[in-house]
Amino acid sequence: MTFTMSDDWRRLRADTPGAAHVVHFNNAGAALMPGPVVVAMQKHLQLEAEIGGYEAARERSDEIAEIYANLAAVIGASAGNIALTANATDAYARALSSIAFKRGDVVVAAWSEYASNQIQLLSLEKRIGIRIVRAPALASGQTDLDALDVILKREQPRLVVAVHVNTSSGIVDDVAGIGGVCRRHDVLYMVDGCQSFGQMPIDVEEIACDFFSATSRKFLRGPRGAGLLYVSDRILSDGLEPMFLDLRGAELEDEQRYHPVQGAKRFEDWEFPYAVLFGFGAAAAYANQIGLDRVEARLAEVNQYLRASLQRLPGWRVLDEGVGACPIIPIHAAAQDGAAIHRRLCAQRINTTYIPKIWAPMDPRLIEAGWAIRISPHYYNSPADMDALLGALGEAVS
Ligand SMILES: Cc1ncc(COP(=O)(O)O)c(C=O)c1O
Repeated sequence: MTFTMSDDWRRLRADTPGAAHVVHFNNAGAALMPGPVVVAMQKHLQLEAEIGGYEAARERSDEIAEIYANLAAVIGASAGNIALTANATDAYARALSSIAFKRGDVVVAAWSEYASNQIQLLSLEKRIGIRIVRAPALASGQTDLDALDVILKREQPRLVVAVHVNTSSGIVDDVAGIGGVCRRHDVLYMVDGCQSFGQMPIDVEEIACDFFSATSRKFLRGPRGAGLLYVSDRILSDGLEPMFLDLRGAELEDEQRYHPVQGAKRFEDWEFPYAVLFGFGAAAAYANQIGLDRVEARLAEVNQYLRASLQRLPGWRVLDEGVGACPIIPIHAAAQDGAAIHRRLCAQRINTTYIPKIWAPMDPRLIEAGWAIRISPHYYNSPADMDALLGALGEAVS
């Protein structure tokens, strides 16, 4: 099997300044930004320096509205249902805080819950006395929809949370299937789309979720320090609001009263790093212009080549051999020091992520292996990148 790259993808690679300096297989951490994203941020910073921060935002208010429209298009939403946040975890916390949990309320969650999300749920358990019930998984790692149906009937939960693509493997959960079960039982449903956002087409209507959280810096290729929360019309019309609003999310009528603003903006803060948001919006526009169906198709080719090559690499084992796994590939080498191998790769400017068990303590593959090196390619990885990575991994264990 050979790995080739068409002129179209080569052009996009040429648009990626970092590709000349590093071999980057850390897109599930933070991708290399394309040139237009960097320029968008520089342009706004320059304007802030020249005319002032408040004045720059006022002058570009129409373009700020476009940021929302471009981001909404990535997930099939309307701009009014998007709140900009500091990161995905922040988005998740704001959404959770809007649900008036009472002692004994049940939240159903999968094994794949991201550690920070799980910490937030445990904090609610500690403070309020909610109960977390685990949704069973099929052998594929996806949520077992029949078992979920039984659990929802039995537990009548307040909320179901799911992760579209989890952090420590390429398993893609059937979030639309879960959404269907939640709708049947009329249960609130929240999806962590941090890793799927920007790597595949997403339609929040089809997923039928109430909340969807995502981050800028991963497969979408935006800058660090921004995220978003999609909030459904049902949540907005039911009047849910985050626990702590500021004067962007709410209007203070007098000393005693406030009311939340219309739309998802009630989940936002007043202060924003506008230059970063322009980068976030530019990354969305860039992805929309390529087309997320094309991104997904190219990533499938990249993923197929890399997974097959890693499976053949002596000394290494791919931990998630599930059907339909996406390009987040956890690998493990028995009796080796994973952290030391990762340091060695870093010294060679080959970027990956070392995942100790503590990052994903509910992932059965990591529990068994103890650690993984996460390889997460993107469409801009070249045949030379592949050779460099596979060569370095081979040498590391020989
Ligand atoms: C599945 C998943 N959810 C949430 C997050 C958290 O994203 P952020 O760091 O933007 O809060 C990550 C980060 O790696 C993730 O992989």
